[in-house]
Amino acid sequence: MLTAEPISLALPDPWPSRVRGGTPFVELSELPISVEGAEPGDVLALRASNYDPVGFGFYDPESGKIWSMPAGPEETLDEKFWHRRVHHALELRGRLGLTGEESAYRLINGEGDGLPGFLVDVYSRHVVVYSLSAALDRHAPALSKVIAAELHPHSVISKIRPAGEQVTGRIPFRIEHGEEPPANVVVREGGVAYEVHLTGGLNTGLFVDMRTVRQSLRPWFRGRHVLNTFCYTGSFSVVAALEEAKSVTSVDFSAGVLDWAKTNFELNQLKLNDKRFKFVRDDVFEYIRVSRRHEKTFDVVILDPPAMTTVPGKRWFLKSDYGRLIAHALKIVSPGGLIVVATTCTASRPEKLETQIREAARETGRRLRLVESIGLPADFPTQMIYPQARHLKCFLLLAD
Ligand SMILES: C[S@@+](CC[C@H](N)C(=O)[O-])C[C@H]1O[C@@H](n2cnc3c(N)ncnc32)[C@H](O)[C@@H]1O
Repeated sequence: MLTAEPISLALPDPWPSRVRGGTPFVELSELPISVEGAEPGDVLALRASNYDPVGFGFYDPESGKIWSMPAGPEETLDEKFWHRRVHHALELRGRLGLTGEESAYRLINGEGDGLPGFLVDVYSRHVVVYSLSAALDRHAPALSKVIAAELHPHSVISKIRPAGEQVTGRIPFRIEHGEEPPANVVVREGGVAYEVHLTGGLNTGLFVDMRTVRQSLRPWFRGRHVLNTFCYTGSFSVVAALEEAKSVTSVDFSAGVLDWAKTNFELNQLKLNDKRFKFVRDDVFEYIRVSRRHEKTFDVVILDPPAMTTVPGKRWFLKSDYGRLIAHALKIVSPGGLIVVATTCTASRPEKLETQIREAARETGRRLRLVESIGLPADFPTQMIYPQARHLKCFLLLAD
C-alpha cells in the first residue's frame, strides 16, 4: 500500500517534462543521485528541480526504473487516486461499447490510462491484473480493490508479468477478489465465441489487441481459400469459417493449441468433420515449402508469427527474419490474393517491418497494394510521447 509520507525526489531536466508528458518511467541510471531509504515499490513524490510537483513514482530498482505518473498538486496517492484512474478507464471502454457481460477488453493499458506498469484485462465477469514487476505487485491489491468496487466482477486475479521477458508455462496468480475463476471461460467478440484460460500461462487464448484485425478481415474471407499460419487458438480461422470461406487451413506446431482451436470451432457450431476445415500440426516454414512444391496457393494468407519460433532446433527471429518469411509466403498467395502481415512484437519497429515487406515484394516480383494498415484498438490507448508502446502493426496487402 502507499506510504503516508512519500519520499520526495527532485528530477533533473528533462525528466519533469517527460513525466508530465506521459513517459511511463524514469531510468534510475540517468539520475545523478541514488534514491536513499526507499524500498522496492515505495511511492516517491516526484518534483522538478524548483520543487514544483510533477507526479508520483513507484521505486523499482530491480527493473532500474521509477514507474512514473503525472499528478496534479492536490493529488495524493490514496484510494481516490486509483478510483479516478479506474473510473476514467471504464468510462472510455463504456463509450466504446466494450463493457458487455461477455466481452473481452483491456481496461487499463499502463501509462495510456495513467497507470504505468499495470495492465488489466477483462474477460466476461473475470478480471486479470498484471503488474510489470514484483515491486509494482505490492500495489496490485489496491488497484484490484477499486476494480472490484467499480465493476462488480465474479473474480479479480493478479499476476506478475515482467516487462520484456519471454514467459512460458503456467504462471502463479493471486486471488484479489471473489473466487478462483473457472479453468475455462467463454467470451464473445462480434458474436463469435472464444474459450479463454485465465489461470494457466501468460497468454489466455485470445489476443484482445487483434480485435480490429479480426473485424477488418471479415469481408476478405467469403468464397476464399484461407491459410492461417501460426494459428494459435484459431481466432482468425473461426471468423474465416463463419464468414463462409471456401476452405480454412490452420497451421501451428503445438498440438495443444490446435485442439483449443477445434474447441473454438465447436463453440461456434462449426463442424470439425466439415471438409473445408483443416487443422495441420506442422512447422509453418515447412508447410509453406511443401505447398510451394505442390503449387498449392491460397487467396488469403495470414502471418502473425511469435518473436521467435518455438519449434525445437529451429532458429528464426522475427526481428531479423520476418522479411524472408513474407517472401516465402508470397510464393503461395494466389494472383490478386491478400497477405496479412502482423506482429505484436515490440522489438519490430514499424519502419523496419515496412522495409522488410518492400524487400520481400521486390525479391518475389509481386507488386503489393496496401489496403489497410491497422494499429492498436481504442481500448489500448498509448501516450504520444512513448510510441514504443504501440506494439501492434498489421498490414493488409493485395498481391497483384
Ligand atoms: C503469437 S502466437 C500467434 C497468434 C495468433 N495469430 C492469434 O492471433 O491468435 C504464436 C503461435 O505460433 C506457434 N509457432 C511458433 N513457431 C512455429 C512454427 N515454426 N511453425 C508453426 N507454429 C509455430 C506457437 O505454437 C503459437 O501458437
